[in-house]
This record gives sequence, C-alpha cells and structure tokens, in this order.
Amino acid sequence: MIGGTGVEHSALIEQRVITVETPYGTVKPVIGKLANRELIFMSRHGHNHATPPHLVNYRANIWALRELGVRKVLATAAVGSLSPNFHLGGLVLPDQFLDFTKSRPQTFYEGGQQGVLHVDMSEPYCFAMRQAIQEASENLGFQVKNGACYVCTEGPRFETPAEIRMFQRLGGELVGMTSVPEVVLARELGMCYATIGMVTNEAAGIAGHPLSHSEVIQSMKELGLNVAQLIHATFELLTPDQDCLCASANLEVGKF
Ligand code: HPA
Repeated sequence: MIGGTGVEHSALIEQRVITVETPYGTVKPVIGKLANRELIFMSRHGHNHATPPHLVNYRANIWALRELGVRKVLATAAVGSLSPNFHLGGLVLPDQFLDFTKSRPQTFYEGGQQGVLHVDMSEPYCFAMRQAIQEASENLGFQVKNGACYVCTEGPRFETPAEIRMFQRLGGELVGMTSVPEVVLARELGMCYATIGMVTNEAAGIAGHPLSHSEVIQSMKELGLNVAQLIHATFELLTPDQDCLCASANLEVGKF
C-alpha cells in the first residue's frame, strides 16, 4: 500500500521498518499484518510530509515494492474536484489520467541493458482492484464512485483557476500531484495498481476561496477513518489470482 497525505499505518499488527536498497536509492517501508496477510506500507511523502510531490522517489518506491514480492498496489491520494459529480469528502477511484507533470523520471526502461518498453496505458488503473474496492465499500455501506479522469500536475503549487478551466475542457475531473508516474511505473513492473482518491477540496477557482495545504490536511483527517476501514475490507477481498492483464504489461521489453 502507498499512503498519501494523511494516511497512516497504525492498523498494522507486528509492524517494523525495513530497509530496501534499489538501483534508484534506499527506501524504508513498514511491514506488518492486516486482515491476516502481510502488507507493506510505503509513506509516499515520508515522515511529517517531508517530501513534496515533485521530489518523491517514485522509481525507488515502486522498485522496492516489486522487489519485496508485491503484486497489487493500493494507493491513496488527496485530490481536488473539478466536477459537480465529485463532492468534498467523497471517495473516487480514477480510471484514466491526464499527465501534466514536467520533471519526473517516467520509466524504468531507459534503453541499453534495461531495454525499451512502450507500456500499454489503455486501462491504467486495474479494473479488478477497482471492483474489489467498490465491493468492499458496498459491504461497508460507503459510497465510492468508480471511474474518473485524474489530472496530474507537477506541483508543489496549486493550480490557477485558468488551468482548472483548461483541465475541465479536456475532460479532467480530479486534480492531484502524485498519481503519475506512480501508476505507470507499477504497470511497467507488472503490478496491479489502484488509487482511492479522497476529495479534500474543490479545485482552484471553484471553491471561491484560496486553497491551503491545511484545508487538505483537515479534510483528510475527517476522511481518514472511513478510508482505513475501506482499505482493511478491500484487503480481505483481494486474492492472488487475477483476471486483469496488468501482470503481462512488460512482456514486450526490448522486442523491437
Ligand atoms: N490540486 C492539486 N493537488 C491536490 C489538490 C488540488 O486542488 N487537492 C489535493 N491535492
């Protein structure tokens, strides 16, 4: 699991911090048990939100998860809403993204010995995992909307109202700063990946007041308990088998 802003690992039993060396740097995820399964918890922004979105070492995080044997990644992300369909405090599962990042390494496959991969992004967020999250939410009596177009901005600043109007015209429905390249890198290593988007604010210019990080944090606190329950219930439903194509995404490496 990759925990975004405001999501903690307190529910994990027998938890301990481990160190994983990767070709991209060292990461220190927490390992523990949830719903009788082993779970790795990766804090995207590190302790005390020390790493801003554009400086997160996405490749090290995803590589470490794969190295540890992870097959399915459940991420959380704070998002702003661009759409009247998605309200403050709502939970939304993105199914598409628009990438407006600028300075982030986007791939593990940089040619040479690593090879080249033009990974398929027809369905970036695993449909089977999204179904499991939806089923878990129905069991809990929570409302989760399955399907939304996530716009990923570079940050760390919030958007201008003009940018938000542009994203709306392009079909964007949620805005955040972290899903790309995380979702892409997970697919490159053949892992299933889904994000629970937590709507913390209306996007710039819609809200009618300036945006602040403390508004986002406050909303996350209010949402936190529901999300923790949803994560737990989802983990109980996940099985090792899968009827998605995520695991076969990198079969074409270097076959040109
Ligand atoms: N914009 C970008 N990222 C965000 C927002 C937003 O409005 N809210 C939470 N993360």
